[in-house]
Amino acid sequence: MNFNLSEEQLMIQQAARDFAQNELLPGVIERDRDQKFPTEQVKKMAELGFLGMMVDPKYGGSGLDAVSYVVAMEEIAKVDASAAVVMSVNNSLVCAGLEKYANEDQKQKYLMPLASGQVIGAFALSEPEAGSDATSQKTTAEDKGDYYLLNGIKNWITNGGTAQYYIVIAHTNPEKKHKGINAFIVEKGWEGFEIGLKEDKMGIRGSDTHSLIFNNVKVPKENRIGEDGFGFNFAMAVLNGGRIGIASQALGIASGAYELALKYAKTRKAFGTEIINHQAIAFKLADMATQITAARMLCYKAASEKDQGLDISESGAMAKLYASQVAMDTTVEAVQIHGGYGYVKEYHVERLMRDAKITQIYEGTSEIQKIVISRSISKK
Ligand code: CAA
Repeated sequence: MNFNLSEEQLMIQQAARDFAQNELLPGVIERDRDQKFPTEQVKKMAELGFLGMMVDPKYGGSGLDAVSYVVAMEEIAKVDASAAVVMSVNNSLVCAGLEKYANEDQKQKYLMPLASGQVIGAFALSEPEAGSDATSQKTTAEDKGDYYLLNGIKNWITNGGTAQYYIVIAHTNPEKKHKGINAFIVEKGWEGFEIGLKEDKMGIRGSDTHSLIFNNVKVPKENRIGEDGFGFNFAMAVLNGGRIGIASQALGIASGAYELALKYAKTRKAFGTEIINHQAIAFKLADMATQITAARMLCYKAASEKDQGLDISESGAMAKLYASQVAMDTTVEAVQIHGGYGYVKEYHVERLMRDAKITQIYEGTSEIQKIVISRSISKK
């Protein structure tokens, strides 16, 4: 078993690291403070091919493997977790779903601009009264012959305000439960489609999270993805891949906080020596390094299984469950190691601690990951 990255993966890692240091680090504190979307930075991510990393170049993507995607995501999230979630949603929830399940016309029209990063996309599943229990959503799309009439509200949608195209999941036949759900591509600006309030969040404040309101929106029949009734299975399949993206974001948050804490511990002195020479601090760093390495291995394993075309429901859920816990634990300890400095904005670790929490919530809470994992292992 070879745990080394290939030459190409190392190059991508370096490119992402340079981009994060040169383009994301300047202004990251201010964007967090002002809830400012990283517009210019996302344009540069598009130029680097980071918004459609795994998509075939014939559809505007970079044609890379999922391990490269994890490697790049970690480097971006180390510095700016908000930019990382914009990247994760566009890559894993939007582009990957369209590449695998959309028809050729849909790919030409929607995937091409999304994968090349000319526009970005959003994935709208959650609702005010249906988050974890995705089957209980209330949004409906009534079949009217050559179009569907879409009505309902979606909540907490990443890229909600900045996206141009939205994948929206809705019931077309509620009696059929999850078999009566479909996925649609909806364009910003269509009559009756309103972008709702922007959420004022604890973390990932540079990303924009909105509710979406659909009031008699006419969605052409050709914008349904897949066969009638495929929407729930589509959402689940897409989320399996999305969880690798969020696991990598969590990994990046953890390794970013760890690197800052290690650097600080090597220079800060207390009781006549650098604090890393105190076992109380050294053991915290030892735990952090071990857990981050384990989280990285789970992310690489899930990504490598994706590259082999294997079922990634279990490995993706394990990577997300564990990496998000490591992100929380590591960032809390990084703040502790920094002492009073850790509690102020300019040392970055307090932001990483706030950013970490959402990784245990979105794209399936940790409790949902345990449902997915336990169902998978019980089948064996
Ligand atoms: N992978 C593939 N298929 C899956 C699956 C998975 N992980 N989980 C369920 N399915 C399939 C089942 O096989 C079944 O298919 P068939 O009927 O064809 O056999 C179908 O889905 C229904 O399965 P269940 O009966 O198990 O469904 P359930 O109602 O018990 O729910 C659940 C299962 C796993 C809890 C699911 O509801 C779930 O994943 N919930 C969490 C939703 C979620 O992650 N939301 C995040 C929102 S997106 C977001 O955060 C976006 C953002 O902007 C960042």
